[in-house]
Amino acid sequence: MSRVALVTGGMGGLGEAICIKLAALGYKVVTTHSPGNAKAAEWLQSMNNMGYGFKAFPCDVADFDSCKACVEQVTKEVGPVDVLVNNAGITRDMTFKKMNKADWDAVISTNLDSVFNMTKQVMDGMLERKWGRVINVSSVNGQKGAFGQTNYSAAKAGMHGFTKALALEVARSGVTVNTISPGYIGTKMVMAIPQEILDSKILPQIPVARLGKPEEIAGLVAYLSSEEAAFVTGANISINGGQHMF
Ligand code: CAA
Repeated sequence: MSRVALVTGGMGGLGEAICIKLAALGYKVVTTHSPGNAKAAEWLQSMNNMGYGFKAFPCDVADFDSCKACVEQVTKEVGPVDVLVNNAGITRDMTFKKMNKADWDAVISTNLDSVFNMTKQVMDGMLERKWGRVINVSSVNGQKGAFGQTNYSAAKAGMHGFTKALALEVARSGVTVNTISPGYIGTKMVMAIPQEILDSKILPQIPVARLGKPEEIAGLVAYLSSEEAAFVTGANISINGGQHMF
């Protein structure tokens, strides 16, 4: 029987590439979209026209009750979640001087509270079934900090603290918990950075001298989701073209 993978924020960017890769490997793939996202149905239709067989449910990952309702629906309509990819995230980049409380709260709740909100819904089931994979999509900027990202860097670093603590608690029950820390990938989020900043400040710090590809991240998630990755837990895997060394 194929395993169920739930990828938050799978419509576009890294999440979409992860959904496509896991579907190609035979997982039943479910993703989430923001409640009221007018483009969700259209996206789902176009992906399923290509034969992926995705399901998609509304979920505000920053809201515990919304996550609870979403996972209940997934469990009922698709099956219990075996692989959870906490991928949904936002940026509100600005220098600390300009950042207000709302900018801080939005990023912390969407990028970090979400990890608790979603993982809480699936962990008991994984422990009962003695198999599970939780993969938290963090960032190189959680490892080294980034100019204009005090909120984002704090949330992404916090994710890995969560990963390590939970990995210890569930290690004996066949459940692994890992963080991946992508660098700058050619997605809409990165393309929103002013070109001049990208060219002058960011690209020079990437030894491989290019942006990453979403498929490269998806390949790592596929590995961590697999049987072969059972001995990897509590890890934070850098996938950033060498940028973490700068
Ligand atoms: N390092 C050093 N200095 C920087 C810098 C950087 N990365 N970015 C900007 N600066 C400097 C500028 O050169 C400028 O210096 P001067 O005043 O001497 O000219 C000064 O900071 C102010 O810069 P801006 O005029 O750009 O200021 P702003 O307030 O308009 O914008 C900003 C600031 C929003 C942080 C903007 O610079 C920006 O968007 N930077 C990119 C932030 C970033 O890397 N975000 C990552 C998004 S992708 C992502 O998050 C995915 C992932 O996980 C990797």
